[in-house]
Amino acid sequence: MTKEEAQELVADYRRAALLHQQKEAKEEGDIQPLKPLTVKERKANEALYRKVGSEWMAKKALGLVLLAGGMGTRLGYDGPKGTLNIGETKELYIFECLFHNLREQLNIASACEGSSDVTPTDVPVCIMTSDKNDERTRDFFKEHDYFGYGQENIYFFTQEMAPACDYEGNLLMEDENTPATSPNGNGGWYSSMQKAGLVDILKGRGVSWLNVFGVDNVLAKIADPLFFGAVISSGKTSGSKTVAKKSPQEKVGVMCKKNGHPAIVEYYELSEEQAGARAEDGSLCFGMGVILNYLFRLTDLDRIAGEHMPVHLAEKKIPYMDGDGIFHKPEEPNGYKFEILITDLLAYLTDCLPYEVVREEEFAPIKNKEGVDSVESARELLRKNGVKL
Ligand code: UTP
Repeated sequence: MTKEEAQELVADYRRAALLHQQKEAKEEGDIQPLKPLTVKERKANEALYRKVGSEWMAKKALGLVLLAGGMGTRLGYDGPKGTLNIGETKELYIFECLFHNLREQLNIASACEGSSDVTPTDVPVCIMTSDKNDERTRDFFKEHDYFGYGQENIYFFTQEMAPACDYEGNLLMEDENTPATSPNGNGGWYSSMQKAGLVDILKGRGVSWLNVFGVDNVLAKIADPLFFGAVISSGKTSGSKTVAKKSPQEKVGVMCKKNGHPAIVEYYELSEEQAGARAEDGSLCFGMGVILNYLFRLTDLDRIAGEHMPVHLAEKKIPYMDGDGIFHKPEEPNGYKFEILITDLLAYLTDCLPYEVVREEEFAPIKNKEGVDSVESARELLRKNGVKL
């Protein structure tokens, strides 16, 4: 990206971000609860859902998209997050955990009565990287023989980059000729896949649904026939795995209905009253936290692809070179990065099934160096689920 292109992009993104902020401030939006399929409800129909999902998987209808283009700055690991070894007595990489989980679900689908074998050929995986981690991610998969999944069933594609600016909107430079750029958020994955020609390849393989998930949840159940079957059986056109909020104050985005569409509302957008409101059965009305595990139909994604999704300003510490050629690594945020978010995608859909899962079984995120959502907390959950570390 040249300096001139970057300057133009900064101006475009800033305009879009400010417009979005103004729109949000003006419209409060009609926020309503969206009823989830609870764990209890799902259990009553588990055999049917698993059968439906497994059959569709055997028919090659499902493809996976792993969003691994993030910088993982909070973790502070100097490499693609998925290449982090979290093992204690043996090597166990984050990517390895995810492919292990995937295999487990393919085995479940294969063992399902009435379904034929479901193999990696039936469920291709697309991995989104960014310019900052693409080469290292590809090399890592090659070194580990694609975790036995078959190189021909794994596709890599890169997301777009966005330039960063200071608080006044001036472009920040990495060096004299290179604008400071970073991945543009996890919301532009589908258009990046289209540009890479991957959507056509997937359609050619028979794929009509995508299961999209993040790199940092080492307990993520992906290609889960139960989830897939439940969404199809519900007649809804998309699905989102959710976990029950621990408390009304928990800082997590929750599923809701906004202006008639499914949506994810951030914790700070809910009033205290809304956050604490309870349904007749005692559950929180806005209590279904999202865990970045979605099912979308390709037909909907094709329709949405031309839309201009909202641009968000993220205040960050951005290393830069000043006019005198001195390089700075700020300790405090010094400007903005621009991001498009997958959570905004739902608003373009007609409906979505919130699908509740048991938190301790399916949610072990690795975000931070220590404490909450760290390697240590994820290890503990892996141990509880019988994973040898
Ligand atoms: P996060 O919101 O945790 O962002 O991403 P991050 O950049 O990885 O981490 P921090 O905030 O710097 O610590 C959630 C998921 O979205 C992916 C991440 O790789 C992760 O799977 N993501 C995020 C992208 O693929 N691209 C992006 O530009 C941002």
